[in-house]
Amino acid sequence: MEMAPSTIQSPRGVKKPSETMEPDLSRLGNNLVTKLHVLMKISQIYDSKNVALHQFIQESLQTINALIKKEGGLSLKIVKNDLFLNEHRLRYSVEGFTSFKYLLTQWEKRLIGEVIFKEPMDETTLREFVYAMMSLEEGREENASVFTELLANLSILSIEVNALEVFEGEEEGITLHKEDRREVAKKVFFETVGTIEEVITHIKGKQHADVRKLKRLAQKAVHLVMEDESILLGMTTIKNYDEYTFNHSVNVSIYSLAMGRRLGFSRKTLTELGIAALLHDIGKSRIPKEILNKPTSFDEGEWGLMKKHPLLGVEILLNLKQLGEINPRIVIGIFDHHLRKDFAGYPKLFRKKEVSLFGRIIQIADSYDAMTTPKNYRRTPYTPEQALAIMMRERGAKLDPILLKIFIGVVGIFPVGSLVLLNTHELGIVYKANPDPKWMDRPQVIIVERAGKKDVKKELIDLTKTDGAGQFKRSIVKTLDPNIYHIDIAKYFL
Ligand SMILES: [Fe+2]
Ligand SMILES: [Fe+2]
Repeated sequence: MEMAPSTIQSPRGVKKPSETMEPDLSRLGNNLVTKLHVLMKISQIYDSKNVALHQFIQESLQTINALIKKEGGLSLKIVKNDLFLNEHRLRYSVEGFTSFKYLLTQWEKRLIGEVIFKEPMDETTLREFVYAMMSLEEGREENASVFTELLANLSILSIEVNALEVFEGEEEGITLHKEDRREVAKKVFFETVGTIEEVITHIKGKQHADVRKLKRLAQKAVHLVMEDESILLGMTTIKNYDEYTFNHSVNVSIYSLAMGRRLGFSRKTLTELGIAALLHDIGKSRIPKEILNKPTSFDEGEWGLMKKHPLLGVEILLNLKQLGEINPRIVIGIFDHHLRKDFAGYPKLFRKKEVSLFGRIIQIADSYDAMTTPKNYRRTPYTPEQALAIMMRERGAKLDPILLKIFIGVVGIFPVGSLVLLNTHELGIVYKANPDPKWMDRPQVIIVERAGKKDVKKELIDLTKTDGAGQFKRSIVKTLDPNIYHIDIAKYFL
């Protein structure tokens, strides 16, 4: 095969990578990654002669060849854990998240850093390329030359492969670009809020609710929490009064997942916990709106009904068409989320039982989010610090003290989203908890500058930073109530 003059140049080293990419190219690029993911995956299930592959290969060829024609050639390269398509960093979409990770992991394991397709391909070429790649032994340094040789033996000269370049100071493992992660987190967050709303509306209308969609979103949230929980934790600062029920469910889920991760739960258990937390108040969909939104306190009858929501929730779950997606642990977690340690909560039980672990986790996440969110009867919510102080007082009788300790580890003594006063007289918003428990009181903080009635971000600082004399440059003096300062905390996390 003649080597076609390539109009593309592979991004050697880290040349100024381009952050902008035309939408069409970005869409095709995302599509390419998804297609390669599927192909790599099924090559491990079917042998290369299997007819079932035909369809997949044809679909992939369409994308790859469209890109090669459009661009005159195609280079896909890993640079510092990011994927570059012809020198443009490929930003991934929510849907593309899993495929990106898969491709990065598989190539990195095999120390393959770049593949250049110089000419449009046919079915046999693509098939042999994928099988040759997946046959490479993991961790072998000479893989790029082994691969080149394999391709040459198959008379494939239109594909060039290069070894993975390791950059100095590169972190171990796969870390996705922070900005991308934030975008994905945002989408997952708002998509979940929307889906919860959908589920509740469907249940109210006695329609079929899509739990599978909720499960997929819970899985995505688990991914994000495992990667960098601070981004999702930041989203919990969105206290949308009108959408309280939906936002509340998602927030409770985020806190619960962060606790579950610290408890060493598997991804599967975390997903179940996430679903239970998302649905913990689903029983409220059976309670009339006038009662739920009542601005004054409940009378006895109304309280009686409110206290039924855990049981109503269980009833709703057991009547779901997709009951197969629901695990007994999820159902019990929902039933338990208002039982207290001393059983003074609700529902009232005939016989005492252990409050389930899911129930105990959700109860803590639920109390905290409820207290820090404005409500009908309490327009000014507690500050994070006040809420934690109340919870500390209630431990013993109400909450599991060990889990509460873990929860404080999640949100920090100064939870993400707290407004703080620094010893430099600056105002700050806690942005990210310090992962080292020793420095719990030294999180990362956004310094906020007030210009008239407005507030703007000045800089992001780390409170562990010291000056030349070894003294901390800044320390937190106390927390402040953002409602008094009229600062919209959530805007700093979006
Ligand atoms: Fe509840
Ligand atoms: Fe709740």
